[in-house]
Amino acid sequence: MSIVFQNPSRIFRLETHNTSYCMQIDSRGHLLHLYYGSRIGEGDLAALYPPADVSFSPNYYSHRFDRLASPDILPQEYTGCNVGDFRLSTISVTDAAGVRGADFLYVSHEISPGKYALNGLPAAHDEDKEAETLTVRLQDPVTGLGLELLYGVFERQDVITRAVRLANHGNGALQLHKVASACLDLPFGQWDLIHFHGRHAMERQVQRVHLADAIQTVSSTRGASSHHHNPFVILCDRQATEEAGACCGVMPVYSGSFRTDVELTQNGLVRLVTGIHDDGFCWLLQPGEQFAAPEVIFAYSDQGLGRLSQIYHRFLRHNICRGPWRFARRPVLINNWEATYFDFDTEKIVRIAEKAAGLGVELMVLDDGWFGKRNDDNSGLGDWQVNTRKLPGGLDPLIRRIHALGMKFGIWVEPEMVSVDSDLYRAHPDWALTLPGRDPAMGRDQLVLDLARPEVVEYLADCMTALLQEHAIDYVKWDMNRNMSDVYSHALPAERQGEVTHRYMLGVYSLLERLTQQFPQVLFEGCAGGGGRFDAGMLAYCPQIWCSDDTDAIERLTIQNGTSYGYPVSAVGAHVSACPNHQTGRMTPLETRAVVAMSGTFGYELDLNRLTEAECGEVRAQIERFKRWADLIGSGAYFRLVPPDGESDFTAWQFASEDRREALLNLVVTHPRANPRSAHVRLRGLDPNACYRVDELVFAAGSDVADARHEGGTAVLTRGNFSGSFLMHAGVALPHLFGDYPAVQLHFVQVEGEKA
Ligand code: DGJ
Repeated sequence: MSIVFQNPSRIFRLETHNTSYCMQIDSRGHLLHLYYGSRIGEGDLAALYPPADVSFSPNYYSHRFDRLASPDILPQEYTGCNVGDFRLSTISVTDAAGVRGADFLYVSHEISPGKYALNGLPAAHDEDKEAETLTVRLQDPVTGLGLELLYGVFERQDVITRAVRLANHGNGALQLHKVASACLDLPFGQWDLIHFHGRHAMERQVQRVHLADAIQTVSSTRGASSHHHNPFVILCDRQATEEAGACCGVMPVYSGSFRTDVELTQNGLVRLVTGIHDDGFCWLLQPGEQFAAPEVIFAYSDQGLGRLSQIYHRFLRHNICRGPWRFARRPVLINNWEATYFDFDTEKIVRIAEKAAGLGVELMVLDDGWFGKRNDDNSGLGDWQVNTRKLPGGLDPLIRRIHALGMKFGIWVEPEMVSVDSDLYRAHPDWALTLPGRDPAMGRDQLVLDLARPEVVEYLADCMTALLQEHAIDYVKWDMNRNMSDVYSHALPAERQGEVTHRYMLGVYSLLERLTQQFPQVLFEGCAGGGGRFDAGMLAYCPQIWCSDDTDAIERLTIQNGTSYGYPVSAVGAHVSACPNHQTGRMTPLETRAVVAMSGTFGYELDLNRLTEAECGEVRAQIERFKRWADLIGSGAYFRLVPPDGESDFTAWQFASEDRREALLNLVVTHPRANPRSAHVRLRGLDPNACYRVDELVFAAGSDVADARHEGGTAVLTRGNFSGSFLMHAGVALPHLFGDYPAVQLHFVQVEGEKA
């Protein structure tokens, strides 16, 4: 039993392998949060919150004389509103008379096997039958607003999920102006906030800040989780490192506008509140109606950030991703976007595919431009009919030729959008989100379709179903290339306009749910101008997401490093592209580009016909290598050894298989120097008592001089065996890596029968 209700203390204990999560129903019926952290035994948790009379923190009415119980001081599991807790609140609700207030009191609870589901929203599943669910029911006695707090406890995974359901059990309509998914009150310690900010082509840059005596906010109002602030955040001990210290992850399973606030409060308690962004949000809840707030995945590690990431990686792969592609090795792909942009025809695509197939590539992806009058990004979205000028005879002749090469065929779509210059927009201008009487803000001359309208979702489902039914398509790249402004649905009444952004997300999810259920064999890759919607919500439908439109290997080190804090490598779309790089103009060796892209789903995005014979040989070898190591890379433990934070001249990261029998060290020099310090790293995650040897070594520097120099330095690495303890404590030092952005991969295997 991972969930226990203790009487008479009325304490709930949620236990995972290494953590405890405790809360208590107090004498008034409020649900207090008591503890979340490393697993603990018995003890009086309530004693952690000694009664105190704090000025300007009003007391519960029942405590008006002793003044020793204030909603403003006690840790809450989910707050009320306008009833004396001045910290961040989880909810804001008004009744028909405009009275704003809620105070939730315990009604009942239920512990059940399995994992709760959320109607219409992505949520963790429990295919491995390990979870238990706790449902705590509370109610505000005045409005009749019922609150269900849902907890999914995944004992072996060390994960607790949370979600919220509201139901109007009263007689009058209620307006929900804010509904957070969770509140987490962490009582003690000095915490840092780690968050992942960025912009287009520069997603998920790591920033670690001390909590200020203030409220810090990570959010998006863009109708997408966004390039700018990823919804995943970490609170960690000031001393926490990759390998040690307490850290707590908070990952919303949501892809729309979100908001996470962290407040360091007057008594040192840290409150984190996360959920749908309340900017412009207002949900009308009529008597008898329900509302579900998105799920949040919590994980806690007292062994540092590396362990926390590994918990998330495993959980997302096992319990968020679904379908036959969940654990399957993804095909090595070639995408024509950077090879041709909009300028292609059947013959050009086939030539690229032919070359790629000969080198071991398994999937040809036809990117933007195959439909409507789409010769640039100003037109055509919404008209999902093949452009037969570019593809004479349609898609099928092309697909047949790709399949004849032994390759799978994939296609790009951007269903959520409509170009102003399209037949769809001319027929249904009211299907786009626009403000009456105003010119809309434009991005790529396209507008966002109103997926809050069921008939729009229906139309898109029909178009996509026809596409996938009529053609032998094995893969879909689902793109989304502008953020949501001018939020107004021409179909909803005035009192429901505050629901549009969330209803839009529900529309996206229902569309993706239908298509992924109907076409389970199709591999869906998410995309939003690169990584503008890289979140756990999208991963429930798309087991991989294009990580960034920046394909420069050196820039990718930073982007992929930031992504790795929360998301598994198996989800990270990464390609080798041409040099000079199209985004930065930088030159990097082909091998270095492959080393970086291999820490992802791995593919190519260039015209391989332009490579020399020698380069083609490299590509062939890279693909063979990736296929050999795909299991280790896709499912092994991931370690950030030396981050790309500018402190070191190189970046290093590593994989270790779950059984610790093999490991892969990757290293890229980001700042070549004439007289460098040697690149020294200690490996992680090995068996200290096992014996390892280097069975493959790749040096990448892209010049003969460099290659000759490197050969001299390699002997020492490939000679003899190393104990796991040696590699983890003494480490390895690489010879002077010469050339522009050189890279190294060292593959270690355990030596059978040898003990260290
Ligand atoms: C943005 C994506 O991130 C690119 O890879 C490409 O598919 C373009 N859209 C096409 O318009």
